[in-house]
Amino acid sequence: MGNGFYLITGTSRGIGRALAQKISNEGNTVLGVSRRRPDELTSERYHHMSFDLSETSRIHEIVEKVDETVDARRLDFLCLVNNASATEPVGPIEKCPPAEIDTHVRIGLIAPMILSSLFMQKFAGERIRKKVAFISSGAAFRSLRDESVYCGSKAGLNMFAQCIGLEQESSEFGFEVVSIGPGMVDTSMQMAIRSKTSDEFAMADYFRKAFEDGRLQEPGKVAERIYEVLLNRYEQGRYIEGSNV
Ligand SMILES: NC(=O)c1ccc[n+]([C@@H]2O[C@H](COP(=O)([O-])OP(=O)(O)OC[C@H]3O[C@@H](n4cnc5c(N)ncnc54)[C@H](OP(=O)(O)O)[C@@H]3O)[C@@H](O)[C@H]2O)c1
Repeated sequence: MGNGFYLITGTSRGIGRALAQKISNEGNTVLGVSRRRPDELTSERYHHMSFDLSETSRIHEIVEKVDETVDARRLDFLCLVNNASATEPVGPIEKCPPAEIDTHVRIGLIAPMILSSLFMQKFAGERIRKKVAFISSGAAFRSLRDESVYCGSKAGLNMFAQCIGLEQESSEFGFEVVSIGPGMVDTSMQMAIRSKTSDEFAMADYFRKAFEDGRLQEPGKVAERIYEVLLNRYEQGRYIEGSNV
């Protein structure tokens, strides 16, 4: 049984929902954030805030909601998991609508930066174990054709994690910082990219084949490994690849 509090973004489906389920089943309190409320998460330890993370000027409202949800003085672990991501835009950059580029980077990079900043500010004084995690991707290191906005956001996230990890090194009760690449997982994000035509997305055939060959992992299994990573200790800012979790 855990006595932790986890703030997790993107809990309406996919990896985030499976992770919220796993973590609340382990006895922890979870506040999940996504636009849609996940009906499947029925535990009384799961709380939900319907929020659009592209509205980056309102992110302070999420941290205010944390106050209503939990009393940090009763906890032994506090953790933020920046998991939400948009899928679009996919395609050659000259065909990506400016509004989609803007929204993608807000959700995938700016929101995690602001949320991490406000979360760390709020709980800096708590003398308990604390962690900030980023669900990243191999796309942070590997250039993928027609996924420039996604790859660029993930690369930015990884560097952000390394920098804030360094900042925390000297504090006695500093935040641990980690990035996690889950590997390929059977979620709506994968379904969306393999549904593209090869004209729309150069790598559509690759992702279709990965699905047909049964190479996508089940979100519940991935959530178990991510939970392990959240509990383990690593050097600051490290990127943990799915297969090494
Ligand atoms: N699936 C994979 O193969 C794979 C591989 C590597 C890395 N990842 C990473 O793993 C993470 C989760 O991916 P997934 O596959 O589980 O994706 P997914 O099934 O598409 O789920 C995305 C989640 O993000 C939320 N989200 C999207 N836009 C949002 C917004 N504007 N405001 C609030 N929440 C928003 C969605 O909720 P709402 O739509 O309800 O808002 C949803 O809960 C992402 O960071 C992804 O990059 C996935």
